Amino acid sequence: MDRSKLTIPRHVAIILDGNGRWAKSRGMPRNYGHSRGAKNLEVICEDAWNIGIKYLTVYLFSTENWKRSKEEVDGLMKLFRSYTKTCIKTAEKNNMKVRVLGDPTALDEDLQESLRQLVESSKDHTGLHFQIAINYGSRDEIVRAIRHVASDCLAGQIRPDEITEELFSGYLDTRDVPDPDLLIRTSGELRLSNYLMWQLAYSEFYFTDVPWPAFTKEDLWLAIEQYNGRERRYGGN
Ligand code: IPE
Ligand code: IPE
Ligand code: MG
Repeated sequence: MDRSKLTIPRHVAIILDGNGRWAKSRGMPRNYGHSRGAKNLEVICEDAWNIGIKYLTVYLFSTENWKRSKEEVDGLMKLFRSYTKTCIKTAEKNNMKVRVLGDPTALDEDLQESLRQLVESSKDHTGLHFQIAINYGSRDEIVRAIRHVASDCLAGQIRPDEITEELFSGYLDTRDVPDPDLLIRTSGELRLSNYLMWQLAYSEFYFTDVPWPAFTKEDLWLAIEQYNGRERRYGGN
């Protein structure tokens, strides 16, 4: 296939799944899988931009992931601390603009501070728009947005009859980010796990058995090839 003729999705969202199973299959602890997964994310960010993808949104930690063992959650938070620091440098080097989706208030204050720095230091960059979802859940995002809309109504800033899909979208964590064209989930599960339910209303879905730490640029191309075979309809005919 001549890849130069393919339509490149503007926005790709990824559920990075399978770190734990990937590590287990190598006789290693789950947190080893997470650290290899984080390294792979840096590689895929560059690959995505080189392919021509403009927006990349990745699921790092769900509102449900707090149910995992303390050891795993502690390991993940430690990893996010170092990942965020590294990301400040790579965002600088690669001109990435980073946004954070999810409710940061449950995270430790130092991690919240690093995330704020990451967003602030990269806000004027013009390369890849990179959204990281951390302590993110779609239901939680929608409920937080509703609370915000309701308080703006009570304050008299908007009237209930002014609430449209467009206005509501502006209250979500993804405001100013176009909806994903393509969703990729690695490692074989066929579900959304509370990811971007509003935003994925008309996205194409691609599932692969490849676990996240082993996912390569070639796998990303395979997803884009399959995306090109889809006929997008948006309800028309
Ligand atoms: C994805 O890998 C990363 C996170 C959810 C934090 P998993 O940790 O879910 O790995 P599996 O699905 O158990 O293999
Ligand atoms: C979804 O993966 C969350 C992230 C990738 C961060 P999970 O592995 O937590 O989802 P379930 O539990 O299999 O649905
Ligand atoms: Mg999983």
